[in-house]
Amino acid sequence: MMPLAPQAGKARWPLMPSQKTCQARTGASARTVAAPATLHARGIAMQNLNPGLTAAAPFSEPEREAVYRAIFTRRDVRSQFLPDPLPEPVLRRILTAAHHAPSVGFMQPWNFILVRDATIRARVKQLFEAANAEAAPQFSPGQQALYSRLKLEGITEAPLNICITCDRTRGGPVVLGRTHNRDTDLYSTACAVQNLWLAARAEGVGVGWVSIFRDADLRPILGIPGHVVPLAYLCLGYVRELHATPELEQKGWRQRVDIDSLIFENQWQG
Ligand SMILES: Cc1cc2nc3c(=O)[nH]c(=O)nc-3n(C[C@H](O)[C@H](O)[C@H](O)COP(=O)(O)O)c2cc1C
Repeated sequence: MMPLAPQAGKARWPLMPSQKTCQARTGASARTVAAPATLHARGIAMQNLNPGLTAAAPFSEPEREAVYRAIFTRRDVRSQFLPDPLPEPVLRRILTAAHHAPSVGFMQPWNFILVRDATIRARVKQLFEAANAEAAPQFSPGQQALYSRLKLEGITEAPLNICITCDRTRGGPVVLGRTHNRDTDLYSTACAVQNLWLAARAEGVGVGWVSIFRDADLRPILGIPGHVVPLAYLCLGYVRELHATPELEQKGWRQRVDIDSLIFENQWQG
């Protein structure tokens, strides 16, 4: 088993605005940000917390650094999977992180189908190959050659695939928060995927999301009933290294959009 290479030296991920401000003010290096205000400094007495509540103090600097490191160094992984199986305690932690995602009305609509069987994975790979052949001609002639060179899945190389599903009936016909936005169960399940992805990064486990096939084709292979949506099909495994920036960016497919162009004040601008 070979975990992901540790980050060494200077942080290689973007600075948060507060860190930038702090740096500008103090001339400090990227890693020496001011310590967060403590509960105490804010005048909140920790011993007076009500039963069932927990302290909402900011994390310590190393803790925040770890959270942002997971966020900024998480990558979608399609290649370089090592065959080593994930130890059960690691898998359990990753799944538990997913299960602690927010969900509309606390619906928890997800299930996790662990796909280890090589025959099933080979059938899913066939679905991908057929769909990917349909996808290529949909892009402009200038993009097609690059598209066909991209590796967009690691279904059979990864030792574990996980299909995260959304049971649209869980919690009954009326779910708090879902009365007017029916798709909030799908959004909840996407939150679980992201929790899993970040926890996996912290564990040194690579994750790749494969979406190039039809749900209707995937359902019979995994025995998923009609009221359940296969929301995410993920490939998991240890990898030797990760791309420092999105692979699609590195291969010239698309660049990260400038964040300032995405932030509006009060109303949509455009
Ligand atoms: C809903 C969703 C579906 C995706 N489907 C695929 C896919 O089918 N194949 C693939 O190679 N990457 C897929 N990705 C990964 C994206 O390409 C990737 O997240 C994006 O290029 C940014 O790279 P990063 O995740 O490494 O930061 C998917 C990501 C999401 C969120």
